Amino acid sequence: MNRQWVLAQRPVGLPRHIDFAKREVPVPTIKDGEVLVKILYAMMDPAIRNFLNAAGSYMTPLPLGSPIVGVVLGRVEQTASPALQVGMIVSGFGSWSDYVAAPAGNFSRVPDDLGSRLEDYTHPLGTIGATAHHGLLSVGNLAAGESVLVSGCAGAVGSLVGQIAKLKGAARVVGIAGGPEKCRRACESYGYDECIDYKETRDLSAAIRKALPQGANVYFENVGGAMLQAALDNITKNARIVVCGLIAAYNAVEPLAGPTNLWNLVVNTAQIRAFRVADILPQHAYLRTIHSEIATWIKGGRLVYKVDVRDGFDAIPDSFGCLFSGAHDGRLVVKIND
Ligand SMILES: NC(=O)c1ccc[n+]([C@@H]2O[C@H](COP(=O)([O-])OP(=O)(O)OC[C@H]3O[C@@H](n4cnc5c(N)ncnc54)[C@H](OP(=O)(O)O)[C@@H]3O)[C@@H](O)[C@H]2O)c1
Repeated sequence: MNRQWVLAQRPVGLPRHIDFAKREVPVPTIKDGEVLVKILYAMMDPAIRNFLNAAGSYMTPLPLGSPIVGVVLGRVEQTASPALQVGMIVSGFGSWSDYVAAPAGNFSRVPDDLGSRLEDYTHPLGTIGATAHHGLLSVGNLAAGESVLVSGCAGAVGSLVGQIAKLKGAARVVGIAGGPEKCRRACESYGYDECIDYKETRDLSAAIRKALPQGANVYFENVGGAMLQAALDNITKNARIVVCGLIAAYNAVEPLAGPTNLWNLVVNTAQIRAFRVADILPQHAYLRTIHSEIATWIKGGRLVYKVDVRDGFDAIPDSFGCLFSGAHDGRLVVKIND
């Protein structure tokens, strides 16, 4: 049988266990051109929360009763396509299920020459590594000697952004995270020169000004809301604001107030630009370049990362909720099958 977590009701505010229902259905059969993938790891990505709303996101809204979709890492069990062979480890867009049947083109073979552990491909050698690298360097156009500010700096994406910034010669890298433990890890492990604990800071704008008196050349936004407001108070001339995510808004029941200081963009002739990693996933040569560079850093001991692996299919709904309480440590994934 094939276990699935489906959308039982649309979450209002924070996602709760009762928003999801577990069901068992027969293992799907494949058609010409498709593969049957046994899912090993389901990635807990905050963007999934947006797929559960009636308004949808960059995907059509997930219908009630449908399996929850997301990025997965799995093994090809059956194939009706010359593109993928049985036994290959693949990643792609799947669902919170044991098995998924889909066109072979939905999955890419995971290269086995870059990382030694399967978990590497859930984090720095997967979509998260591509998000951090592409966002900071191609969208943010970071140049050596510049200063960088990152919200959500101890999370999956943020923990890589700080290190990549330093590896590319950033002069000063400041992060924002929730809690002393996350701030300690950001400074000791993830390349940050300083980390602002927003939960203990009354005036975020002043705290950023103290940490970055000259302002930020690049602001890498993972959170939004009050953080974007405070960051916009502290940008340099020709700054780049990279909008990777806006997690503070994902569970909001009312629209968040927008920044009131957008004029600072004009004052500083700054650019604000969003991106989606999904748009670069089909660019295989570019992705390979990104992941090869990250793999070199890992092998040289110059880039560290943490994968927080939760065990078992039943752990998925509660694990997903941890993304929004911050009760996780690094890249959050659930191991579904061996
Ligand atoms: N553009 C893309 O293609 C792309 C790809 C991947 C991810 N993303 C985005 O990147 C961001 C980070 O994703 P991730 O996978 O690295 O997750 P993550 O940072 O590992 O986990 C989410 C973190 O966000 C913080 N957070 C949650 N709710 C918050 C709130 N209301 N206010 C302030 N902070 C809050 C928490 O950290 P604290 O404990 O520090 O508060 C939590 O640990 C998300 O916005 C995600 O949607 C975008």
